Amino acid sequence: MTATDGRPAFMGALPQEFVWGVATSAYQIEGAVGADGRAPSIWDAFCRVPGAVAAGESGEHACDHYHRWPEDLDLIAGLGAGAYRFSVAWPRVVPGGDGRVNRRGLDFYRRLVDGLRERGITPFATLYHWDLPQALEDRGGWRVRDTAERFADYAATVHEALDGVPYWITLNEPYCSSITGYAEGRHAPGAREGHGALAAAHHLLVGHGLATARLRERARKGERIGVTLNMSPAVPASPSPEDTAAARRMDLMVNRQFTEPLLAAAYPGDMAEVYGEISDFSFRRPGDLGLISAPLDFLGVNYYYPIHAAAAPYDQPDPALRTAYDIGVRTVPPAGPPVSGLGWRVEPRGLYDTLTGLAARHPGLPPVFITENGYGGGDELDDTGRISYLDQHLAATADAVADGVDVRGYFCWSLIDNFEWARGYAARFGLVHVDYATQVRTPKAAYHWYRDVIGAGS
Ligand code: FCB
Repeated sequence: MTATDGRPAFMGALPQEFVWGVATSAYQIEGAVGADGRAPSIWDAFCRVPGAVAAGESGEHACDHYHRWPEDLDLIAGLGAGAYRFSVAWPRVVPGGDGRVNRRGLDFYRRLVDGLRERGITPFATLYHWDLPQALEDRGGWRVRDTAERFADYAATVHEALDGVPYWITLNEPYCSSITGYAEGRHAPGAREGHGALAAAHHLLVGHGLATARLRERARKGERIGVTLNMSPAVPASPSPEDTAAARRMDLMVNRQFTEPLLAAAYPGDMAEVYGEISDFSFRRPGDLGLISAPLDFLGVNYYYPIHAAAAPYDQPDPALRTAYDIGVRTVPPAGPPVSGLGWRVEPRGLYDTLTGLAARHPGLPPVFITENGYGGGDELDDTGRISYLDQHLAATADAVADGVDVRGYFCWSLIDNFEWARGYAARFGLVHVDYATQVRTPKAAYHWYRDVIGAGS
């Protein structure tokens, strides 16, 4: 952070009312998977599959946030953060996926929202952060349209019960829910299907559209509705025409497959060409695009790194180098520093390009919140790598704002170390360290740094 007047240099470009926040998600922190009537989600089931999660770990106990939430909200208040992005666990609220509503599950989120408001922190509630009730997966999961309808019912139930949430996010990262979960099998439900993943991607978007319509009907004054996408610019690994075309295919799969229907009411024209033989889009119905593209009050963008894409022959012998869709792309592994503790490339320019690219491509782009950005490392408390990462990405955000992109806020992933999905607990993203044996929380250097940034911006 460069400072002449004691304020970080990037602060100058950010609007006065910029929202400073932190983010988490239910399955990654709550634990208490059997408490108060919660039923299993696809992640409870996936964690039991041998080899699915590093060290055979699961979210069974996680950070025990379900019981320790007041302490965690105090940590947010200690940062001076104005907002907290959390997710609601569908299997706590509607354990069977549809039908009976579990009041005790809703009560937990009521307490949480009340606790936030008492501390002057604005709640941003995500309705789906990957924890589909297993009962719905048993009926086809996101491969089937019925799940989208059930999601809208569940969304309406939560919305009605939680007064005092001004910002609603329907989905977190539909790319990961569909491609990583149904094609690559690296996430729950662990499926490796081409066409099933395409159907899942579409049904997630339909679920977003149906839920948005239901929330709009009942919206209280001032409530805003949006969706969060993970975005990674696809950069050609070389200037060759082959790698350039490969990057374009990757951009379709990761970004445009979601941004275009949401923001431009159309699926990209190159979908059939890229997906080849699995291009059976019979799951699309008339009217779907209108539903999916209903106006958003804001777009949530999660950004971590860009993807460096090279063309790879379809008969690439090493399965680890193929995408599950087999779109003829190889992701070039990070080469040389700088990389995060997890080996993810540190390229803040990718965030700038994402934000300015969105604004250029979609002139009516709604206001953007960066709903996740953060650094995964080990268990060090003096996390200088994280500080440098956050500093550079806030500078990139400020550059995009200076160049005209309407970015309203930034949420650091994550408040506390937590269950990092298939990587288990070894990958730590928190501003606050968690000792999982004792559940003791210890703020890291980045926590103090972020508190100072927020203080300088307030
Ligand atoms: C994102 C997820 C979030 C967290 C970060 C590191 O893809 O939304 O839950 O795991 O990555």
